[in-house]
Order: sequence, then C-alpha cells, then structure tokens
Amino acid sequence: MAFSESFLEDLSSRCDIYDVVSRYVTLKKSGSNWFGLCPFHGEKTPSFSVNTEKQIFHCFGCGVGGSVYNFIMKIENLTFPESVEFLANMAGVSLPKEDFHDNRKRLYNLNLEAAKFFRDYLFSEQGKEGLAYLTGRGLNLRTIRRFGLGFAPDAWSVLIEAMTAKGYTKEELLTLGLAKRNKNGRIYDQFRNRVIFPIIDIRGNVVAFGGRLMDDGKPKYLNSPESPIFSKSHHLFALNYAKKSQGRSLILAEGYMDVIALHQAGFTQAVASLGTSLTTDQAKLMKRFADEIIISYDADNAGQTAATRAAEILKNVELSIKILKIPGAKDPDEFIKANGAEAFATLLESSEEHMMFTLERIRNQYDLNDNEGRITFLKEAASILAKLPSPIEREIYASKAAQMAFVGKDVLLSEIDRKRHAYFKEQKKEEIKKTMHPERNAQPKDRALHYTDLKSARAEEGILSMLALDATCIRQLEKEQITQADFSAPFLGNIYTRMCALVNAGQPVTAAALSQGLTESEMSELGRILSAPSGGDESMALEDYIFILKEGRARRGAVSQIDPMLALRDLHKAKKSYGGNLK
Ligand code: GTP
Ligand code: MN
Repeated sequence: MAFSESFLEDLSSRCDIYDVVSRYVTLKKSGSNWFGLCPFHGEKTPSFSVNTEKQIFHCFGCGVGGSVYNFIMKIENLTFPESVEFLANMAGVSLPKEDFHDNRKRLYNLNLEAAKFFRDYLFSEQGKEGLAYLTGRGLNLRTIRRFGLGFAPDAWSVLIEAMTAKGYTKEELLTLGLAKRNKNGRIYDQFRNRVIFPIIDIRGNVVAFGGRLMDDGKPKYLNSPESPIFSKSHHLFALNYAKKSQGRSLILAEGYMDVIALHQAGFTQAVASLGTSLTTDQAKLMKRFADEIIISYDADNAGQTAATRAAEILKNVELSIKILKIPGAKDPDEFIKANGAEAFATLLESSEEHMMFTLERIRNQYDLNDNEGRITFLKEAASILAKLPSPIEREIYASKAAQMAFVGKDVLLSEIDRKRHAYFKEQKKEEIKKTMHPERNAQPKDRALHYTDLKSARAEEGILSMLALDATCIRQLEKEQITQADFSAPFLGNIYTRMCALVNAGQPVTAAALSQGLTESEMSELGRILSAPSGGDESMALEDYIFILKEGRARRGAVSQIDPMLALRDLHKAKKSYGGNLK
C-alpha cells in the first residue's frame, strides 16, 4: 500500500522522533541534538544523534539515518508499510482509507477564501466600522490592501455559511480554527467583530489569522490555533514582504500593528513573531535573509525582558544583534506616529549594541552601593564578557562595567581571564567531540551510491538541503531550469524531483514525507544532507550551487550525449549572471 505524503507527514508529527527513539535508546542532550549509543552497531561512545527540529536520526559511526519510519523499519525489522502501521497503532491513528493527498491544498485554499471574505467585508457597507478603526490608527488604504487586512462580521455563522457554500466542510473550518464547537455540539464562527490580520508564509500562503477587538475588551487578539498548515513557532509576520527588502538586516518587533506601521513608514524590513517569545526556528528563518537583527520591542519591562531573551536566541544562530531603545513612546507604532519616519531612522542608526544593553540590564538588577550587589554584578558581567572573542571589546566593556560598580578595570579583567580559561576548557571538550564525529564524509557510506562527480554532488546536496529549508528556492531553481538531468548522482536527482513535487503541492518537505520508496542507504544519506543546519555549506548561496551544477553538466556533457555546445552556452550564461557571487 502506498500512503499519501501528507498522511505520512501528519502521522510523523504525532510520533515525535525523540519519543519514539527514546523507547529504545537512552538519549542525552548535547548542543541542539540528542545523543546516545547507536542500537545498530556496537559502540562505547555515543555517535547516534537525534535532531528533533528536523525529526531525523543519524549515526556518525555507522552512517544509518532517516525519519522516524526508517528508525522503526530498522529496529523492528519491518517493511515500510508495516512501519507506518506500527507507528499509526502506537499513536492511535487509523490508517487512511482514501487518499488524503489534496487535504493540505484545500486547507490553504480555505484560508485564502476566508481572507478574501474578511477583506471584502471590510470594504463593504457593514465593514465601515472596521475600516474606520484601521484608518483611525493611521493606516492608509494602500497599506490596508497590501497587508490584506479584513473585518469579521459581528455574527455567529456568516463565515461558516460562506465557506460551506464554496464546498469546504465544517471539519475543515474547525481544523483551521476558523470555526469552533460549543458544548452542545453546535459550531460557530471563531472570529467575530474583529479586524483581521492574515498571517502569510514566505511562499505567499495564508496560514493563519490574528483578529483584534476594536475596543479594550478581552482578549485583545485572537490568533489561529496550530493546524496542519500552521505552527506559530515557525512563522514570522510580514516576512513575506521583509525578505524582499534591501540589505541583509531585519527589524524584529512585537506586534502586528508595529510591523504594519513600520512598513507604511518605509521600513519594509520589519517582522514580528506571532504573540509568543521568539523561537530558534524563527531565528534560523531570519538568518536566511539577514545578517543583522535590530530588536525593537515595547519599551515596558515585559518588552525589554522579551528583547533580552530574543537576543540570546538570535545570538545562538550567530546573527549580529542591536537593541533599539524607544524614548518617550510605548512601541514603534506609537513612536512613528508621534515623531515620524525620519526620527525612527535616526533611532535605528543609534541603536545600542547588545553588549551595553546587557550590562545595563544586569546593573539594574543589583544594588551597586552594596558590596554583595557589586560582587554579584561583577561576577555576572565577567562571565558574559569572557565570551567576547575580541580582546579590544573585552577591554572596553570591562572598563564600562568596572565604572558601573566603582572598581578598577584590572580586577574585572583578571576575573574575566579566569572565566575565559574555564570557558575554553569547556569548548575544547566540545571540539574534540566534534572532530571525533565529523559531520560530513565526502562519499556516501554505501558504495552503490558512490559519487562520480564529487564537486557537483556536494552542490547537489546543498540544493536539496536549501530547498528543504526554504521552499521558495524553487522559484530560482525553476527559473534556471534545473531538473533531475542536471544531477550527477541519480538518487539525489530523484529526491530533487520528489521535493519539487511536494513544494508544488504546497506540502512541507520533510524526511518523513520522502521516506517512502527510498532504500535504506539513500534515506541515510538524505538524513545526513538534511542535518546541515543552514542548508548546505554556509559560505555558499543557491546561485553558487546552481553554477557548479551547470558547470558539472557541461563538463560531463562533453563526453556524453548532451550537445556540448549547448551545455557550454548555458554555462556561459550562468557565469554571466552569477559570476559576481563566486568566491
Ligand atoms: P495594538 O495594541 O493594537 O497596538 O497591537 P500590537 O500589535 O501593538 O499588540 P501588543 O504590542 O499588545 O502585542 C504584541 C503581539 O502579541 C500582538 O501583535 C499579538 O500577536 C500578541 N497579542 C497581544 N495581545 C494578545 C492576546 O490577547 N491574545 C493573543 N493570543 N495574542 C496577543
Ligand atoms: Mn501597539
């Protein structure tokens, strides 16, 4: 039996790979992965890793890996369909009788129809109040249209009726959280008498909604719940626009209104997390489009605490961070309204570096007139400054911190040195671990998959890995007419075609969705490829990979049936457009 990819994906999301694997293997956290002793080959030091974010496992020792299905196949000695059945039983999910293939696509379309419904309602006679609210908050019509803002009627089933009339089911409305069921089993519209903010992913799909009351009632915002097409920790509001902005810098704000006001004022690089604290997935998503993040949260205490937390998370994915202080206003929206866009641009330029911000924050936690307070402050400052790689920076900030606590900077510097020593020892340990388990072996473990064109194959891996991370890559790949035939490694070409099919069907590209039909060694290689944290080699851009592919094809084409002249002409074109990106 063949299962639809969306069923495999749904089932795997209920069978978290950590939960499943930890029934068989004792796992310990190390960095962002879990490690344990590989159950598939004898070993004394753990090289078997589980990545919960990507839902894959991989053994650096024997090379096996893949999705949760591959794990069950191997450890329970089952065929692929049997492993699906096994996991479905474990999760209490019944196997599909019909093909669910189009499910997800229907959900995207339903959200899109709902967004249109809310928007049309906003611009209708009955929507006047909503439109007045939005314009009253300073938004112009162009902005309102650009963000697809809408208005939900003050009624119990208008949306349900409109959407069921279009052929969508009540179940689908419930799945997306557009409708709710009460105690008596009746279903009703979830969003009522609220202005509506559609949340759009980077591929342009409407994945969720936020709805705001127009007065001080509670709750101020209602947001769509998690659904098969929406996970709030994976999206950022307005990133669909911000990713197109100039320069590799993004502004991270807290609220929908802040972001929209910023865009209207010309700061189209603004995004917001969706009413929750920032997650590592969101940080990684930003890293695809930016090198620097300017955090511009609310000025109140809660906002500043959230800013510190966000900075930590962004720092972990190696983004450079600035934190904006907004004087005399509670948030960017208010500040721009009061002082204008130019004043905000000036703020951006003078935004404080993360380090001073951090020092000031911890200073405010202690009473520096008190000996105890000064000691704890200095100790805490020392551990933070110890992590600065540059001695100049350490010296500068050490003297700032020393001034804050009224001591000489030499005392602090020697404390920092002590901390650095300990810190390095810790790092060394990590490094040894890493070199013992090199993340990348140039060739696949299985000789049958041997790469004949290693350079091209590495680029092919990079493309797969980037495409899995960001489906919008497909636009460029299609534009460059990259097909399976451009791949030197047949199994990578095959995976590429299947990934493209998933993307075009609006489905997420995950190891689980691809598990069916790949051999065990192919799956293991895919697991390794998808483990690359930022989509292949970090110094490479998609353009570079495409160029290497074309170059490889031209090289191979010269000895095969492909017309070498045509291939060379292609290469020449590619060089022209991408030469600038090559190192
Ligand atoms: P205004 O208050 O209209 O200016 O909106 P804002 O976007 O500035 O909101 P605020 O700064 O109060 O909150 C930031 C974000 O947190 C919002 O954009 C929402 O995503 C989320 N949020 C705020 N209030 C609520 C709430 O009551 N429920 C939920 N689920 N989310 C909320
Ligand atoms: Mn606000």
